[in-house]
Amino acid sequence: MLNVTATKENHALRYGAEPLVFLAPGRVNLIGEHTDYSEGFVMPAAIDFATLAAISLRDDQRVSIFSENFGEQADFDLAALPAKAAHHWTDYPIGVLTQLIQAGFQPKPSNLTLVGDVPLGSGLSSSASVEVATAIAILGAAVEADPAHLSPPQVARLCQRAENHFVGTQSGIMDQFVSCCGAANHALLLDCRDLSFSLARIPDGLGIVICNSMIKHSHAGGEYNTRRKEIEEGVEILRRHRPEIQFLRDATPEDLQLHGHEMPTDVLKRCRHVVTGNLRTVAAAKALETNDLPTLGRLMAESHASYRDDFEASCPEADILVELAASDPACVGARLTGGGFGGCTVNLVKAEQAAAFSEKLVAAYLKSTGIAAEIYQSLAGAGAHRL
Ligand code: GLA
Repeated sequence: MLNVTATKENHALRYGAEPLVFLAPGRVNLIGEHTDYSEGFVMPAAIDFATLAAISLRDDQRVSIFSENFGEQADFDLAALPAKAAHHWTDYPIGVLTQLIQAGFQPKPSNLTLVGDVPLGSGLSSSASVEVATAIAILGAAVEADPAHLSPPQVARLCQRAENHFVGTQSGIMDQFVSCCGAANHALLLDCRDLSFSLARIPDGLGIVICNSMIKHSHAGGEYNTRRKEIEEGVEILRRHRPEIQFLRDATPEDLQLHGHEMPTDVLKRCRHVVTGNLRTVAAAKALETNDLPTLGRLMAESHASYRDDFEASCPEADILVELAASDPACVGARLTGGGFGGCTVNLVKAEQAAAFSEKLVAAYLKSTGIAAEIYQSLAGAGAHRL
């Protein structure tokens, strides 16, 4: 649990100034994986796990960043920020500062304390929460330019650019968007084409149980970017037949039936995951809105199977977790959430049975893999804000 008072006090002791404190949440994605950068649909929710950014101004030309998680302080000259990533925790705040400057803002010299409880490398968007917390802290306390304000979707775009251009992951907009725009007790159906979104209330009787397989992933430069290239290759082939296909969002299952044979097998499989994933995500939002839980559960199961077999972004441990969850009558739906290759499963569970469900799941997973999974119970939380 994050301790706002302690973070404020520690900041004041370290830097000798009372900070303002901002919070940006991580997220869990209920359905729609690797669809965002194809301008498709995703349905995440912000979670109770978050990053705090405490900020105060200073009177030289520097920015000092202290990470409570890493127990490290890093100081930079604002006029000479690093030009490229150092594969270090500072990449995220520095990427954001760089993007703010490129967008015409002039961050003031400041002290920034970052502390988060989003588990790292587990598919719950710890990095997006650091980026968004940094951005709203700087914009909220330490910007000189006029207008000193960006809308939450604009903050999300700026943080995505930090991730793409500085950190080096060619990720989509989902994580930063829901960290900025999430709403308590709601999932957010986002159209990644025009960033329009609608909120679907998560019924009171439904609990979100997140289960960490404890298999760590890393996206920067790895499989994530490979998948993205495969998707682009598929789009190229479809575009030869239908020039209006700019992204897989524009393609239909029929397009794949007609022209998929021209694609390498893996490319066809990746594209099929995205094209069917968009249809599943929109259908899942409708099912959630109408409280049609059996349909929601079926779509989540299909989504996991597609992620495993077509996108090949699951891992044996996540498959075991999903299978174990699905065999429990308390479970409405289960699937691997986030960028893939490890991380967490998301389980929608009858709320009053969530504790028993979690206990059984952890015990059965330990028996089958020898790994002690972690459980995170979370309500859908609010988007980024000042505390
Ligand atoms: C990561 C990326 C997102 C999205 C998911 C997969 O979390 O940051 O943009 O592509 O993977 O759905």
